[in-house]
Amino acid sequence: MKHIVNTQAEYNAAYQASLDDPEKFWRDFAEKEFTWHKKWDNVLNYTMSPEAGKLGVKWFEGAKLNITENCIDRHLEKRGEQTAIIFEANNPNEKPLHITYRELAKNVNKTANMLKANGAKKGDRICLYMPMTPELAYAVLACARIGAVHSVVFAGFSAKSLSDRIMDAKCNIVITADGGYRGSKITPLKDITDEALQSCDCVQKVIVLNRTNSKIPMVYGRDVWWQDEFAKASDVCPAEVMDAEDMLFILYTSGSTGKPKGMVHTCGGYMVYANYSFRNVFQYQEGDIYWCTADIGWITGHSYIVYGPLSAGATTVMFEGVPSYPDMGRFWEVVQKHKVNIFYTAPTAIRSLATCDMSLVTKHDLSSLKTLGTVGEPINLEAWEWYDEHIGKKNCPIVDTWWQTETGGIMISSLAGVTKDIPTYATLPLPGIQPCLMDENGVELPDGAQEGRLCIKHPWPSMARTIYGDHQRYADTYFSTFSGKYFTGDGAKRDAEGNYRITGRVDDIVIVSGHNLGTAEIENVINEHPNVAESAVVGYPHDVKGNSIYAYVTMKTQDGLTQDSEQVEKEIKNLVAKTLGPICKPEKIQFTSELPKTRSGKIMRRILRKVAADEFENLGDISTLLNPECVEEVVRGACSRG
Ligand code: WT7
Repeated sequence: MKHIVNTQAEYNAAYQASLDDPEKFWRDFAEKEFTWHKKWDNVLNYTMSPEAGKLGVKWFEGAKLNITENCIDRHLEKRGEQTAIIFEANNPNEKPLHITYRELAKNVNKTANMLKANGAKKGDRICLYMPMTPELAYAVLACARIGAVHSVVFAGFSAKSLSDRIMDAKCNIVITADGGYRGSKITPLKDITDEALQSCDCVQKVIVLNRTNSKIPMVYGRDVWWQDEFAKASDVCPAEVMDAEDMLFILYTSGSTGKPKGMVHTCGGYMVYANYSFRNVFQYQEGDIYWCTADIGWITGHSYIVYGPLSAGATTVMFEGVPSYPDMGRFWEVVQKHKVNIFYTAPTAIRSLATCDMSLVTKHDLSSLKTLGTVGEPINLEAWEWYDEHIGKKNCPIVDTWWQTETGGIMISSLAGVTKDIPTYATLPLPGIQPCLMDENGVELPDGAQEGRLCIKHPWPSMARTIYGDHQRYADTYFSTFSGKYFTGDGAKRDAEGNYRITGRVDDIVIVSGHNLGTAEIENVINEHPNVAESAVVGYPHDVKGNSIYAYVTMKTQDGLTQDSEQVEKEIKNLVAKTLGPICKPEKIQFTSELPKTRSGKIMRRILRKVAADEFENLGDISTLLNPECVEEVVRGACSRG
């Protein structure tokens, strides 16, 4: 049996083998494909119990390794001079960098020594709030090299989001930059960091990369320049020997209570699955140029810009900019410039690029492309067909990869050119992944065509092990809705052949332009406005963003409704943008005197979601509501706001 499969029959055999004996399946792959200091005592040890006290998953317990030796050192002999990272800057006139594996090794070691010289130790949590420059990749790998836990915070997040995350993980070091280029603008990353740190007492050092030559204040004794410290550091740094189950990183994702969840990923299992899934899904071949357009601030960047590709000895492109700068043809210009073979992006990007003048596509030579990928939300048929026709020239398989921050790696996807792709379907689970569909009563639906809630029945190596500092919440969120199974929060349909089509979130999370937003977090901010009594946030369909944010707001005094609503609307939007970041800003705000509630006082979002989507009929049974009469007002308000 082959683990990295190249035909449908090999996929079938691997899938069957992974079902028959999951431990043997992963043991054989882990043994063959990685460098370990010591092999494991146990391949898998787990209890997927809803009781936090019992719940726990361990892969490769007792094994010793360092993931950076697998991503860098072991490649040096064979591919030291091969490009590991191609850096394409925001500004198309800035010369791209081709960083070889040997240079990567030196730079990561220097960064690791720089961290040590600034007080970093094994087990420390280090926050990376950085632009998409190679230094971000070095910093990620340097943390892993010395056994520190990285927590990358996307550089589009606000000061409040940053400080919440720094405090939750109790980070002692923050790495940031003076500024980050983003299209024609500069994000003032250091200013935002300074504001965030006003409310954090755990941070001792701030390492600041000079990227934009912005004038910024440095705090004496706390702030140091990356370039100064880096220059002083040695390029030799032995890798810390880690336990397979030691923490590798924390990455925050939205939750339904408003407090983001710090998902914890560990060294051994994560490495094995990031490598395995990367090679199988994209069918990476020696010499291919691979580009994932995600930011390293998201899990996609962790697994499929850094760890997956580098562990596989691939050449991975890192792009600092945005798809719209200097014009909407930038992605295609970069594909041509670097002769990209494998291109992985998000449906929201595809939809917005599809609305542009076609000459922005046709003027570029895209003939290097052989595989396309998508991730982050369901892709609609029009976007899929546009991608297939205009980018893939009907000649590239499209992998629609379903997975989550929590799953660490791609779970359901076709394998490029190996298993069949079907428009709008993620299709089949990877070998080792056992999805199932559950009905509303918690009963597993039998095989064959079904629709239900998507769960995973058996542990896989890269699953998040806990929520940092809150194992109880981990148990409650993922393992108690359907006892003994991992609940994804997504709904899905399955056809008679076993292909999955993800229909979207069934919980209080809305995906806007591929960003996973918790409605509760937004409500909490809206409720801080002095005139607001209560609010309910839902998603509604949006042509380009997939979903957009719709907020229902009740004000403290009803007479304010007509007089100041326009002003309050503006203030609410600004408040949310300032506190959580512009991506969270409600696109529509509807004032209403009451929100529909159940008898237990829970807001009935089901109704609000339908109204926001202009579905005014079939609102379902409203007779069980505490205040059914308010539904009419809500509908009237939605109709009249246009
Ligand atoms: C949620 C996870 C996985 C990296 C990016 C997002 C949605 C993700 C797909 C897809 C339909 C998808 C799901 C999932 N999602 N990929 N191919 N088809 N939906 O990671 O921020 O943790 O979001 O994104 O709803 O639960 P994330």
